[in-house]
Amino acid sequence: MLHQSGIAITGSGSAVPAACLDNEGMSRLVETSDEWIASRTGIRQRRLASPEAGIRTIAAQAGRNALEMAGLTPMDVDLIILASSSADDLFGSASQVQAELGASKSVAFDLTAACSGFVFGMVTAAQFIRTGTYQTVLLIGADILSRWTDWTDRRTCVLFGDGAGAIVMQASPTDDRFLGFEIRSDGSQNSCLTLAFQPQSKELVDDITVGQGNFQPIFMNGQEVYRFAVKKVPEVIEKALFRANLTVEQVDWLVLHQANQRILDAVAQRLGIPGEKVVSNMARYGNTSAASIPIALDEVVRSGQVKVGDTIVTAGFGAGLTWGSAIFQWGK
Ligand code: UT7
Repeated sequence: MLHQSGIAITGSGSAVPAACLDNEGMSRLVETSDEWIASRTGIRQRRLASPEAGIRTIAAQAGRNALEMAGLTPMDVDLIILASSSADDLFGSASQVQAELGASKSVAFDLTAACSGFVFGMVTAAQFIRTGTYQTVLLIGADILSRWTDWTDRRTCVLFGDGAGAIVMQASPTDDRFLGFEIRSDGSQNSCLTLAFQPQSKELVDDITVGQGNFQPIFMNGQEVYRFAVKKVPEVIEKALFRANLTVEQVDWLVLHQANQRILDAVAQRLGIPGEKVVSNMARYGNTSAASIPIALDEVVRSGQVKVGDTIVTAGFGAGLTWGSAIFQWGK
């Protein structure tokens, strides 16, 4: 008989760079104001990584903190999933993080799904644990989008910040606390939000030409992405709730990707979830892409607001376009 393991979420951690740029500083960079940014997005400041900092170091720090909370060491980890769209190396940064942690018994790989990366990572980790393949997974969401921001484009540069967050997911023989999920993508809307490679022809020999070039800075059609998020995120949460056999009233916390306070408010309102259950920290960090959900989660866990057994609904959304929701109960 196929044994299906239960899953517990046993630790969280986060790490953000020290440098902090507030909206006043931003208004010295581009034509904007604290009033515009705060009222349209809810963002007041963001942390920015120095040139020497890397995904490797901030991801490892977040991972270390999460393992410590779970009472584990890096040698206990079977699998590391690094959700990131701004790896230090296009070949992947997960194994660099593995080395930084000294998690030499684990296997590590990268997962790219932009701001949905953390939720997609949770779902991926859950499959490995369910089947009994791995017992302990360290999932890290980390992004340094300041590397890819057009710092002359006020429509996007005010939005993003850098950071990393992590959770530990473990096999549980007694309980199953990973309750339901739904993940989606729609590549037909890909051009709404891109960090695209732009090749230029380079002729080699005998009419053989290859494309070489660089990635272009982030482009976003903000209004389109806003409309998409407000429509699709409640739908995908409802689907995940259905799969988890839960009603909206049973939700203790809504931890959405921290893109825009207006999106959080609209999603919560559509679902009928009261404001006090909606976790929001974008005022201090901006949109940290794959890191935003685990950083927000880590804050409410460490502050003692989240109790063991609380039901948490997460949802990520962004480039791809991708979106998804994962529902779990906190703790062992
Ligand atoms: O993480 C991935 C997922 N991303 C998202 O979910 C982002 C979704 N989109 C949004 O959050 C919003 O669309 C934005 C915050 C990006 C923009 O807010 P908006 O209310 O949709 O503004 P808008 O793009 O319609 O721009 C309104 C006005 C424009 O001026 P005009 O054309 O009306 O004269 C913009 O040029 O605001 C102007 N504007 C700014 N003004 C001051 C745009 N950016 C700025 C700025 N400062 N930083």
